[in-house]
Amino acid sequence: MRFFSTAAAALAVAQTAYAVPHQEHSSPWKHGKIAPKVLIISLFSPEADIWYEKLPSSGLGDLLDVNVTAPGLSMLFPHVHCVADGSVCQMTTGESEINAASSVMAAALSGKFDLTKTYFLIAGIAGINPKYGTLGSVALAKYTVQVALQYEFDAREMPSNWSTGYFGYGTDAPNVYPGNAYGTEVLEISETLRDLAVGFASKANLSTDPTASAYGQLYKAVQPASLYAPASQPPSVVKCDTVTSDVYFSGTILGNAFEDVTKVWTNGTGEYCMTAQEDSAVLEVLVRLAIEGLVDFSRAMLMRTGSDFDRPPPNETAFDNLRIADQNGFEIAIDNIYLAGVEIVKGILDGWHTTFRKGVKPANYIGDIFGSLGGRPDFGPGSTTNGTGYKPHGRSGDEMRRRGLSSGMGRKAGYAKRAAVGQN
Ligand SMILES: *[C@@H]1O[C@H](CO)[C@@H](O)[C@H](O)[C@H]1NC(C)=O
Ligand SMILES: *[C@@H]1O[C@H](CO)[C@@H](O)[C@H](O)[C@H]1NC(C)=O
Ligand SMILES: *[C@@H]1O[C@H](CO)[C@@H](O)[C@H](O)[C@H]1NC(C)=O
Ligand SMILES: *[C@@H]1O[C@H](CO)[C@@H](O)[C@H](O)[C@H]1NC(C)=O
Ligand SMILES: *[C@@H]1O[C@H](CO)[C@@H](O)[C@H](O)[C@H]1NC(C)=O
Ligand SMILES: *[C@@H]1O[C@H](CO)[C@@H](O)[C@H](O)[C@H]1NC(C)=O
Repeated sequence: MRFFSTAAAALAVAQTAYAVPHQEHSSPWKHGKIAPKVLIISLFSPEADIWYEKLPSSGLGDLLDVNVTAPGLSMLFPHVHCVADGSVCQMTTGESEINAASSVMAAALSGKFDLTKTYFLIAGIAGINPKYGTLGSVALAKYTVQVALQYEFDAREMPSNWSTGYFGYGTDAPNVYPGNAYGTEVLEISETLRDLAVGFASKANLSTDPTASAYGQLYKAVQPASLYAPASQPPSVVKCDTVTSDVYFSGTILGNAFEDVTKVWTNGTGEYCMTAQEDSAVLEVLVRLAIEGLVDFSRAMLMRTGSDFDRPPPNETAFDNLRIADQNGFEIAIDNIYLAGVEIVKGILDGWHTTFRKGVKPANYIGDIFGSLGGRPDFGPGSTTNGTGYKPHGRSGDEMRRRGLSSGMGRKAGYAKRAAVGQN
């Protein structure tokens, strides 16, 4: 057996070597760079493996045909993978915010890719809020909110009339708009593109599972019955938003608290339905690269599929929901990343010449709380550049320093306030 497989491998190597000249016409490299039409961003192995396994059968190619390495990629996921003609690429960032930001920045600044016309599809699993969906549901978001970017008291030490120990920087109570911004609190992407992606994803026949469906039925017992109605329905494609937190929070009280944070920070328009650990990090990287003209932020898409409920059904503890109960949503969530995601990829490739190459103009504001990409944010205190956006190569920062301005935000604003009341 061993001899046979070695011989087969040798034959495969010989065939590959022979095949190389024939593949030249479909080389992914154009002017020394790969210019993918779609870059799929996975966060950990299972989300990536499903694409390696299934994409070849779609006719769109094999992501393991081209492996590109770059300094700064995750040591666990050291390659960006592309199909032979470079039209679709995929990378895995590693989990949580630091890994996500580092890896995407490394790929983008490697010099090996031209991402100026690339559509980005963040495609991962998440905790699902039973108010919006169920295990296996597919959400396409307009916002991601970095909900744990706050002060926090342990609930046992918080003022007795608070409903959560989290409260925004520069504030003295929960659910007040933060007084200081770091810049990554809320990131808003194109609703127009999101809605097109929902149309494509809705063609998919999503995977379901009997154990997962039965778990969803448990939420019917909550009163009023309308509150968690989507949890007991079959999975579908929904429009609602994600929250990002390195802390893997779970339970009804934190779920409700972060729903409120999402509402307040998006000035009433965001709806938290999926919780995950990377989205704000990836989208912040894309904002920074868009300032330099290296990516087009109107081409970012954010898709999450529900692998477990963010809070327990009635009569179950938060602990049992998170660690003990068999929700059985993981595999269908992974399947549905591919089933919904491949329809989005196909939709973009099929419509490339008519629609997507030139781009889809967003009808909504896109960008961060500073208004970094120009325009006026429809959330938060307003553009820090009076609507112009930041210029590339640091020119805006230099101008602001010369004029003696700072954003007036960040941790120092907290110190200034404490100094004013004599607490330093
Ligand atoms: C790319 O890397 C994968 C492992 O991640 C490997 O299975 C595959 O053979 C590699 N492809 C090429 C063309 O070297
Ligand atoms: C909690 O009580 C304090 C002191 O009475 C009051 O100032 C504050 O508004 C209350 N906060 C909430 C969230 O009810
Ligand atoms: C979904 O299922 C229907 C009915 O079996 C079938 O006609 C359709 O092609 C399927 N869609 C996809 C995207 O596979
Ligand atoms: C939850 O527990 C209470 C008290 O034991 C019981 O009355 C109620 O029927 C239970 N609800 C469900 C959905 O099991
Ligand atoms: C968002 O809400 C905050 C707090 O109420 C307010 O100060 C800010 O002006 C609002 N921003 C927009 C764009 O409406
Ligand atoms: C800010 O922009 C508006 C137009 O959007 C303009 O009328 C106003 O003069 C600008 N303010 C400053 C201080 O540049």
